[in-house]
Formats: sequence, structure tokens, C-alpha cells
Amino acid sequence: MKSKEPISLKERHQRRTTFLSHIKGGVAVLFSAPHLIRNNDVHHAYRQDSNFFYLTGLEEPESACIFDPQSKKPFTLFVEPRDKVKELWEGRMLGLEGAREKLGADTALSSKDSNVFDEAVIEALQKADRLYYRVGVNPLQDQRMFFLMARAAKKLGRTGRSLWTICDPSEVLGEMRLIKTSSEITCLQVAANITAQAHTEAMRYCKPGMYEFELEAALFHSFRAAGAGRLGYGSIVASGENACVLHYVNNDRKMTEKDLILIDAGAEFEYYTADITRCFPVGNRFSPEQREVYQSVLLAQKECVAMARPGRTLKEIHSHAVEVLTEELKRLKVLKGTTASLIKSEAYRPYYPHGTGHWLGMDVHDLGRYYEETYSNSRKLKAGMVFTIEPGLYFGADSKAPAKLKGIGVRIEDDILITEKGHQVLTSAVPKEVEEIESLRG
Ligand code: GLY
Ligand code: MN
Ligand code: MN
Repeated sequence: MKSKEPISLKERHQRRTTFLSHIKGGVAVLFSAPHLIRNNDVHHAYRQDSNFFYLTGLEEPESACIFDPQSKKPFTLFVEPRDKVKELWEGRMLGLEGAREKLGADTALSSKDSNVFDEAVIEALQKADRLYYRVGVNPLQDQRMFFLMARAAKKLGRTGRSLWTICDPSEVLGEMRLIKTSSEITCLQVAANITAQAHTEAMRYCKPGMYEFELEAALFHSFRAAGAGRLGYGSIVASGENACVLHYVNNDRKMTEKDLILIDAGAEFEYYTADITRCFPVGNRFSPEQREVYQSVLLAQKECVAMARPGRTLKEIHSHAVEVLTEELKRLKVLKGTTASLIKSEAYRPYYPHGTGHWLGMDVHDLGRYYEETYSNSRKLKAGMVFTIEPGLYFGADSKAPAKLKGIGVRIEDDILITEKGHQVLTSAVPKEVEEIESLRG
């Protein structure tokens, strides 16, 4: 299911209007992502910066934009002019006309001439009291922007004003991106469906003796064949003890019948990504120990999912995951003591070292504040927020767990949309009950 224009020009225009209303009195300058070199003259596949794409819809590097709320033409886009030779080698470019007609830029200017950009920034700055610009991404851009501020201040004459306060546009954009519109939810649901199908197919396809990368390749094939643009993040295909490495990337181990495998992989559809983790036995059935650990994590995961509704917080959900997993660690004879004292001393941490969820959207760890007013005040969930619930238990070879549990790592991750009345699990199509998984493996 690949709709023609999932995020319409109208919706992107609405985003710009909202963004402009939030930065009143200021001016925003955003740069496109660079086209990164992989080695020598080979580039990585291009992926636009999420904020830049969210506002502009432009997928070309060497671009920038200025948002000036005080101008009658507030949206200026700087793009590379069309170049026949470049188009011959790299494909069709949008050009200045395309930037106006296809993306709705009020003004389109060439990004080739740095003077044009510099003068436009200086002019906009002189009317503004703040600059919205993300410092720290590219030191050369930072230097350029600082220099332009100094030039703009000088141009104002003897006003006595200091340089402009710099605000991170990600703060405003993070808040906007946190509450998903219906078309964004559609994109996320498509990404979730593609991902769910790929995970289910991987459960069927996996055989003892295969290498992890064979499953990685199968997942990628399923994603692309179903219309996903790319991966949302590097796929983790971790068998046996590799599952205890949280960001395992090698995916090069040969799997045996005795292994449990953990797959954490998500497809990106129209710049929105899913994020699913499932575990299943490489043989037909879970071993008794694998099943025990799996059931413990599943219990925590299902209870946490059931909690998701408006007014709840991610902190409450995490605390509940910690409580259930600590109880389960006692049952599994990994920990001894009262649950309260084990939680207080964070005795569970060697076995559950990560959080229970994160915002999800254009970035797998999406933008958006996690707190209200103070850092310790966790934010209340609201309809339109999308996040993951992903508890896990990991018993590495060097852990203090009983020998029979060593080498088992389990995480179960679903993507949750908060609705007016409760929640919807966007990734419910991929099985997670032991019986369902064993029947697929059989
Ligand atoms: N796949 C990254 C995460 O689960 O946070
Ligand atoms: Mn996640
Ligand atoms: Mn994940």
C-alpha cells in the first residue's frame, strides 16, 4: 500500500504556518542533511534530516531554508538549480521552479551562491529578536551562522544590541512532531504493517544452520518489496548470547537449533518508522528456560501495554515494568530479597538496563520532551502520541544469573498509539504468544 502523497502539500503548509506562529519575533534557519561519503567517491544513500523534511518535503542535499514570520513571504527555500550534467549522473533535480511549484516555497533561491543565502539571513536577522538554529550538528555551519550574526549586528549600526539569542528549532518542532496527525498515523501504521509482516515471515523462514545475516536479508527484502523506503535503523538479528548485546550489529553468527533469536527491526515508510522486537526459538520450540524468561518479559510487556491511556506517563509504565521484572527475577531465582528493596537498590539493572519506551515517528527515537515543567515530572500521555513499549531481560555469560539462564536475552517491543479513550497497538499483527510462535515455527 503506497499512497501517492501521504503527507499532502496542504498538511506541510499547515505545519509551516504552525511553526511560524511558534517562532513569532524570531527567524529560523535550517539546513538539509549532508550527502555523506562512505568511502572515496561512494556516498551513503541519501536521507534528509527529519525536521527539514517535515517542513519542506525536499529530499535534496545542499539545501537550506529560512522561516521569517515577519515577512509576507515567510518561507524561503535555497536549492541547487537544475544542472543537466548532474541530472545525467544522479537523476532529476527539483530546481528553483520545482521548489516553488511542487513544495510551495514563497521564494526559491539558488543555494550555489553563498552570498545570496548570507544576505537573506542578515536581512531577516535584523528584524528578529531570536535565531532558531540547531547548534552542534555541523561546526562549519555554526561558524558561518555566528559570523552572519556578527555581520547583521554590525549592519544595524550603533544600536547597542547584543548578538541574537539562539533557540533550538527542535524544541518547537519536537512538540509539533510529538502529536501525530491522521496522515502521520497512516504512515506509521503502514510502516508497522510492513514490519509486522516481515517479522512474521522471518519467524517462518528461519532454520537451524542459517546465518543471522540471512534473516537480516530476508527482512530487508520484505520491507523493500512491500514499499518501504529504507530501514528505520540498523536491524538487530541476534541469536544466542548476542541477544544480550543491546545494540548488536554484526549479524554474522551461524544459528543452532538450541538458540533463541532476538530480532529488532523496523521499516521506514515515507519517513515514518516502525520499531518492533520479537524473539523466537531457532528450533521448533522454546527450551523450558527460554520459555520461562520469555513468559516473564511477555507478562511485563502486556501489563505495560494495558496501562497505556491518556493521563498516564512513560515513567509510570517503566516503573511497572521494573516491578514485574523484579518479581520475575525473584521467581527465576536470579534475585533474592523484598521487591521494594531490590527496586530501591536497582538490583534488576544488570538484567534490565534500558528504559521501557521512547517516542516514535520520523526518527526511531523521536523528538519531543519527556517531561512537564521539571525534568523529574514525567509528561502525561495524550491522544496522538506514539511510543514503544519494550521491556526485556538479558542474562549474559558474565552475569551472576543461574547457569541455565546464561546466554538468554529477550525483548518484546510494540508500537503504541494513544487514542482519546485508551490506546491502539499498531504492531499487533505480529505474534507474541508462545503458542502462536511455536505453531509458526512448527
Ligand atoms: N530499535 C531501537 C530501539 O528499540 O530503541
Ligand atoms: Mn525501541
Ligand atoms: Mn527496537
